[in-house]
Amino acid sequence: MGVIDKEKYYLKKDEMLKFIYSNQDKYDDRGISKFKYILSDYFFDKKVCNIPVELLQIFSKFGVISEGKDIYLEFFKLLNELNFLEGNICEVGSGEYPRLAEIMLPKIKLNGGILTIYDPEILYTDFKGIKIIKEKFTKDTNIESTDTLVGLLPCLASETIVEKAFLENKNLLIGFCGCDHSSRNGFKKGNNKYWAEALSNYYKQRYDNEVEMFSWSDNIKLDYPIMARHKR
Ligand SMILES: C[S@@+](CC[C@H](N)C(=O)[O-])C[C@H]1O[C@@H](n2cnc3c(N)ncnc32)[C@H](O)[C@@H]1O
Repeated sequence: MGVIDKEKYYLKKDEMLKFIYSNQDKYDDRGISKFKYILSDYFFDKKVCNIPVELLQIFSKFGVISEGKDIYLEFFKLLNELNFLEGNICEVGSGEYPRLAEIMLPKIKLNGGILTIYDPEILYTDFKGIKIIKEKFTKDTNIESTDTLVGLLPCLASETIVEKAFLENKNLLIGFCGCDHSSRNGFKKGNNKYWAEALSNYYKQRYDNEVEMFSWSDNIKLDYPIMARHKR
């Protein structure tokens, strides 16, 4: 069974299309063409990993994902359980529409913290209350005032996020994606989840008492590790 709730999807289809087309100036032709699928039933039986994140972000925003299957809401729940929404949060790789940031913002504000996001590809930059930096997060990015680094499927930024969290003593929650971004000896190239597992195992062995590993719930069917690190 897929992640889309058909009933909710039909109810929200027009609204979703209106939203995309009222924001079409943000997209190039290729970007906007992805949304043509909203007109069809194409995603009804698709699992999370078979839906482009650009669409998942919009599906989540409009609440058309079945109960318990929305990765943004589930990741938010985990952040909350770990008490990681206290203090200043930096999300790396938020995507075109920063759906996780949108969900986290009220709680972070309530706790008196600041939310900063980094993504060179972000398209929706008009969120009040979020410090949006349309740039790459690198090993030289200043995170002095950050308490927690967050990355949901942050792809190419994954290793930098993990390294910065350990080197600069930050809380960390990262949900790895299925790509292989091996960049140095020791994390053997394979494909999909093996790289993320190797990276997680490396940090677990090295910093055992600081690392906690999680899996996505059975509902989500995303077989990639989630790694948390608690600052000392
Ligand atoms: C697979 S998307 C995930 C988007 C979003 N987190 C989600 O789950 O919907 C990966 C995103 O990471 C961003 N990214 C990759 N390397 C980055 C870096 N060094 N700094 C910031 N963002 C980066 C890309 O631009 C892309 O938007």
